[in-house]
Amino acid sequence: MTEDPGLTFQRKKEHIELCLTDKVNFKHKTNGFERYEFEHYAITEVEKDRIEFSTIFLKKKINYPFLISCMTGGTAESEIINERLAIAANELNIPMGVGSQRLNIENNNNDQSYKVIRKVAPSIPLMGNLGASQIVKMNNFGKVQKIVDLIESDAMVIHLNASQELMQFKGEPDFSGFLRKMEKLVKKITVPVIVKEVGAGISKKAAEKLLGVGVKGIDVAGAGGTSWSAVEILRSKVETDNIFWDWGLPTSFCIREVFKLKKEHKFVLIGSGGICTASEAAKAFALGADIAASAKIILQELFKNGEKGVVKLVVSWFEVIKNIMFLTGSHKINELKNRLILKDKLY
Ligand SMILES: Cc1cc2nc3c(=O)[nH]c(=O)nc-3n(C[C@H](O)[C@H](O)[C@H](O)COP(=O)(O)O)c2cc1C
Repeated sequence: MTEDPGLTFQRKKEHIELCLTDKVNFKHKTNGFERYEFEHYAITEVEKDRIEFSTIFLKKKINYPFLISCMTGGTAESEIINERLAIAANELNIPMGVGSQRLNIENNNNDQSYKVIRKVAPSIPLMGNLGASQIVKMNNFGKVQKIVDLIESDAMVIHLNASQELMQFKGEPDFSGFLRKMEKLVKKITVPVIVKEVGAGISKKAAEKLLGVGVKGIDVAGAGGTSWSAVEILRSKVETDNIFWDWGLPTSFCIREVFKLKKEHKFVLIGSGGICTASEAAKAFALGADIAASAKIILQELFKNGEKGVVKLVVSWFEVIKNIMFLTGSHKINELKNRLILKDKLY
């Protein structure tokens, strides 16, 4: 179904407005990172100033294992946001995702809001974005390849947002045939496919199925940060006490569980969902994430302090992560693994 562009414009505007507040946070559920503490290692032999974060993501060298999550595109307002996020991503030399390119497929008048990114960030790893509810309706994936080419993306991200579709007025809670379509999609397009949630988390069981059809990356986007059910409940202005507000699997649980699949599958594990501090990002790495990612806090920082604020925020997080690595005796970020203790075990 093609959506009226006026309605889409209004919806995207409301999404941004709501996400600039913390009204859309989970009410009682957390991402679970607060249950862990780092194990202090008194005889650390790390030289703090030698710690380095650069790594390879989507065949490109990046300076920090951190990603600006998929957020926006398709409207004049989102063109400005994408441009400013891209300026920050370019300065940091980190990857970034665009928001859903559904409008790109249905109406190419909005191309500029996505294309603007490559003007200011010609070589960062860039990821395209479409929802599961669009994928299930497609019979050939030529249009997906077109939007990959349009923004010269290095990967295509498909988002799973079942609880959002359920709560959204005129949402499309129909993902029937999804895995079969994904199996075709990964073979048809020229870039790797990554699958993400939007804040309800991906379980080990779901990730295993996705990896089984050829998906190359999983972004768990777990519960405890932005609740997309909450966004739609608030937009509907109908129900404020709804059991689906807090629906989903906490981020820390998802990372820990999906990481177990690394034994049998080669894939990138992205840890996101309510990562709002350096310590939460460090704990995501410690539980097994290769890359950490955030959405809402980055948007809020952009509106508060501009692209310079976003750069400062990410740099400051990684300074703190360096300190955590020094204190836990971790020379490399992947040595943070096994450096966590459940707080219950401390007393
Ligand atoms: C304003 C805004 C718009 C978003 N739009 C999209 C989108 O179009 N596609 C998508 O995959 N995720 C979208 N997301 C979800 C984020 O990528 C992320 O998965 C989710 O917000 C959880 O991360 P957080 O707790 O750090 O915000 C959006 C998030 C925000 C804040």
